[in-house]
Amino acid sequence: MRFLSVFILVICTALIPQMAFSGNAKTIDELVSSTDSSQCVGCHADIHENWSKSWHAKSVTDPRTIRTFRTFILGGIDKLPGVKRTELTHMCLMCHAPAALNASDALSEQIAELVVTAVDDKDAAKREAAMKELSKLDINCITCHGVKAPGGLVNGNLPLPPDPNTIYGPGDAKNPPHKDAIGFNTVKSENMKKAEFCAPCHHGCPPGMTSKDCPTQWTVYQEHYLAHGGKQTCQDCHMQGKGGANHRFPGIYEKEFAATAIDLTLTATPTRHFDHLENKAMPAVVMNVKLKNNAAHDLPHG
Ligand code: HEC
Ligand code: HEC
Ligand code: HEC
Ligand code: HEC
Ligand code: HEC
Repeated sequence: MRFLSVFILVICTALIPQMAFSGNAKTIDELVSSTDSSQCVGCHADIHENWSKSWHAKSVTDPRTIRTFRTFILGGIDKLPGVKRTELTHMCLMCHAPAALNASDALSEQIAELVVTAVDDKDAAKREAAMKELSKLDINCITCHGVKAPGGLVNGNLPLPPDPNTIYGPGDAKNPPHKDAIGFNTVKSENMKKAEFCAPCHHGCPPGMTSKDCPTQWTVYQEHYLAHGGKQTCQDCHMQGKGGANHRFPGIYEKEFAATAIDLTLTATPTRHFDHLENKAMPAVVMNVKLKNNAAHDLPHG
């Protein structure tokens, strides 16, 4: 794992230097003040409920993820001379918590310290408090409907900066009451129904790299699915729901959903096997296995 962390760090440093920038927010509360999505809960209770059970709602605090961040900090960043803990923001949080890109360098270091505290501190109360603070950075309604919606990965460029106090939506709603209720404009974003919307986070390779060198959900989807006649978008498969878009976003950990990825046909034909040493015939079967991957990317891909 330590080798892996250093490896990722070296690769990332070589590949995405253009990602290194920092903002001005000095506390986590200041950082998330413009991305607080608690004001969406009252009117969108069902969507909120589904989101809260999704992996997006744990994009920093999921135990596996936060432990990997911890190892990346202690076993990777801290071991390399001249590398600062702000790299956690530039190399991991840019996707796992895009709000953090607006943190000052001092706040970025503080976030990294909170990660270590949340995992390693001996005092359970301190671990819990750090986890609660970090959960404010998890991907929420505004991360997707405000921060990430407008640009997507257009010709390999980073997303455009969004307008503040704007909810970007797929554009199907008649008269959303956002302006009167919370002072937000509602703007249609063509991107929300396209696979491009997911790419900035579910991709992450420099422009032009193919799935051979950088097998992400995005490159594999382009080269092995769309190029062979596949028609569905990421949303078609991952956001299917009754009466609206499903914000649960099932993936590999949801057994029923994951099972839809596999068509397995087994045929067994009875036959006889002749054992020459024993000089006798015994019953046997010939198995024919047909396995088809219906997902639009590798299986598994995590
Ligand atoms: C380009 C965006 C991006 C960057 C940069 C990124 N991640 Fe991720 N990460 C994702 C996405 C999207 C997923 C979920 C998809 C998947 O599992 O394939 C994920 C999944 C994970 C998981 C698995 C979670 C689980 O429980 O299955 C871990 C752990 C993780 N990332 C750690 C890191 C670390 C550590 C860094 C920094 C070195 C990092 N990530 C950088 C986008 C990113
Ligand atoms: C990971 C990104 C992501 C997150 C997080 C997210 N959304 Fe969405 N949402 C989308 C996408 C993409 C669509 C468009 C789906 C489509 O039409 O194909 C959408 C559609 C919608 C719609 C219109 C369709 C419908 O079902 O009525 C509403 C309303 C909505 N989201 C509200 C919310 C709220 C409220 C939250 C927070 C609890 C939230 N979203 C969190 C990506 C996200
Ligand atoms: C006062 C209640 C209310 C609040 C608060 C509210 N919404 Fe809505 N929203 C609605 C209604 C009603 C619709 C229209 C539903 C329809 O026609 O299907 C809507 C529609 C939407 C749509 C779809 C717009 C489109 O382009 O089709 C999105 C996305 C959305 N809301 C996200 C949010 C987010 C994110 C928040 C929190 C920042 C939020 N809403 C807060 C009531 C609300
Ligand atoms: C702001 C960045 C971001 C956007 C936009 C985003 N995701 Fe994610 N997604 C993540 C991260 C980070 C994780 C991993 C969370 C964790 O650490 O467990 C994830 C997890 C998931 C998972 C669960 C992964 C698993 O291992 O089972 C699915 C499925 C998923 N995303 C699908 C989508 C789809 C489809 C879209 C586009 C409609 C989308 N996401 C948009 C960042 C994003
Ligand atoms: C044809 C349906 C389909 C399409 C299109 C599709 N997926 Fe999936 N995806 C699945 C299924 C089924 C699974 C669960 C089995 C698996 O892991 O492949 C899955 C799994 C995932 C996971 C969990 C990680 C893992 O280990 O596989 C992520 C993340 C994900 N998809 C993201 C995306 C993104 C991003 C896109 C668009 C670029 C996309 N998917 C397009 C069906 C689809």
